[in-house]
Amino acid sequence: MDIVQKRVLSGMRPTGPLHIGHTKGVLEIWRGLQDEGWRCFFLVADIHALTTEWENASKIVENSIEVVIDWLACGISPEKSVIFLQSDVPEHAELFTYLGVLTPIGLLERNPTYKEVLQEVKDSEKLMNLGFFSYPVLQAADILLYKASRVPVGKDQVPHIEITRDIAEKFNRVFGEVFPLPEAMLAETPKILGIDGRKMSKSYNNAIFIGEDIGQIREKIMIYMTDTQRKTRKDPGEPERCPLYTLHKVFTTPPERAEIENGCRNATIGCVDCKKILLKNMIPELESLQTKRKSMGRDFAIDVLKDGAKRAKEFAQNTMNEVREVIFRKKGTKLL
Ligand code: TRP
Ligand code: SF4
Repeated sequence: MDIVQKRVLSGMRPTGPLHIGHTKGVLEIWRGLQDEGWRCFFLVADIHALTTEWENASKIVENSIEVVIDWLACGISPEKSVIFLQSDVPEHAELFTYLGVLTPIGLLERNPTYKEVLQEVKDSEKLMNLGFFSYPVLQAADILLYKASRVPVGKDQVPHIEITRDIAEKFNRVFGEVFPLPEAMLAETPKILGIDGRKMSKSYNNAIFIGEDIGQIREKIMIYMTDTQRKTRKDPGEPERCPLYTLHKVFTTPPERAEIENGCRNATIGCVDCKKILLKNMIPELESLQTKRKSMGRDFAIDVLKDGAKRAKEFAQNTMNEVREVIFRKKGTKLL
């Protein structure tokens, strides 16, 4: 069987609405791969969300539908790609069990993402559960179930892809060649900083969401952090030090950007002018996304997920047949 094919799997946890860091980052690569003819599986990682949000499980369903609407508005196509919910395909949990057998506890303890999250979160007590600890093993199951060779993700996810490769390598060695070794693919878009100058993130409360009210977006831009060394209108500034400029990098064309850079460095334009130029470029793009978003609707998103679950399951079941076969060598033996 072909184990190295042009197959992609990626996913997002449905913990809230998408912001422009997502749409201008990883979603652009998803769309690119999809349009280049890769076989793409995009999953809403609702079981992963449960590992941290188990106290608010009912919210996860609503968030999942919203995330799918965002994806569709951004051009992820249900005809070209398989869009589905993790919990609709129980094979993820089954493969997770088999992979768990091959996963040394130390590999998970050393996972930098795990350590970081435990340190950042206020009530880390609620994360002291096996599900959260084994998060990367479930993620490995997501990827390997579809024999994906490419995994387009943000930089923070790279350690999880490395863990996936380790587990896949061991599986192939111990039981037989089933899985291609997946590679992470990073967005080339520059890092987008939020209103307060830190990395844009929902948990920092500094993001601009794509479904957000346009008036509110304008207000956020007006209070956006700029180059802090540019104290007055007369001081020259430096775009590379300016959080707002990271938005120009994704919304403003290079010639206009060159003018802004000069204007900022020579103090011929002020930050308010600069923000107005950004809004002129950014608002029409967001408005068109929002129009698309509205035309999708919940019911359509639910239909997309239903159809996606069917298509994902078909692939996942084939992989699981193969996995059980190589582990137990029970080809053709139907005991039950
Ligand atoms: N852990 C990823 C995140 O938080 C989401 C995710 C779940 C994922 N399963 C995946 C990403 C498989 C890539 C591949 O963003
Ligand atoms: Fe930033 Fe623009 Fe102000 Fe320069 S002019 S500091 S790029 S907001």
